[in-house]
Amino acid sequence: MTATNHIWFKVLNTRNDIAEGRVTTVSAGHRQVALSPFEGKICALDNACPHQGGPLGEGSIENGILRCPWHGWDYHSCTGKGHP
Ligand code: FES
Repeated sequence: MTATNHIWFKVLNTRNDIAEGRVTTVSAGHRQVALSPFEGKICALDNACPHQGGPLGEGSIENGILRCPWHGWDYHSCTGKGHP
């Protein structure tokens, strides 16, 4: 078995700090992360959109799909998988 080192950062005081259907940007060390609640869990994606680096944490969410505020590309808020 291979040991993996993780560094944990506290980015919220409670899970209720983000309302369902909202997304917010937090700092975890030197990284910016887009956090959003979905089906009882908190999901995290890199804050930089794969298209041109738009701030996903400033996007909007509908039915678990996070829309980038710059050009409207859609991603599943937990898996990051693109949606047409
Ligand atoms: S930068 Fe996100 S859709 Fe273009």
